[in-house]
Amino acid sequence: MTDSSCLLDVRADDIGGYTIPADSSVVICPYVTHRHPDFWQNAGDFDPDRFLPERDVPHGAYLPFGVGQRLCIGSNFAMMEGVLICAMVLQRFRLELVPGFRVEPKPCITLRTRQGVVMTLHPWPTSRVPSASTEAATTEGEAS
Ligand code: HEM
Repeated sequence: MTDSSCLLDVRADDIGGYTIPADSSVVICPYVTHRHPDFWQNAGDFDPDRFLPERDVPHGAYLPFGVGQRLCIGSNFAMMEGVLICAMVLQRFRLELVPGFRVEPKPCITLRTRQGVVMTLHPWPTSRVPSASTEAATTEGEAS
């Protein structure tokens, strides 16, 4: 849940047919908004391509870091960290969910899982994994 309150006077409003009195706290549930069929095609599917630049995301429909005047200050860091971790792990391993393991969501400040996600890591053949010497050579090549 996120609550988009900020230290400002909030006027009364009508939102979706509901009257919101002045100075109310409005609590938004990103879990629901992120899966709402009014905003997303095939809302329940795992479809990373929905974030491609040519696929428009309606303003406010994707709000993992909040929306409006109050936002997460770590959002850029978090997005970069996520991409780097995925790139480093997935280059080296194929991940497989342990058969029968049920992933149960656990709502906290960020969405977590109740018992983690238990997976088996299968190393890719070594030819696919960039070796330390290839990485160093690439870095040196880029630097010159
Ligand atoms: C996937 C990772 C993360 C998610 C989903 C996330 C999400 C959020 C959300 C929803 C808020 C509340 C915004 C609001 O008040 O409406 C928030 C606030 C905040 N986040 Fe993050 N966050 C993440 C990572 C980080 C990281 C890595 C840092 C620091 C390096 C950070 C620092 C903060 C701080 C300081 C606030 C409070 C900002 C304020 O109250 O003005 N977050 N975050």
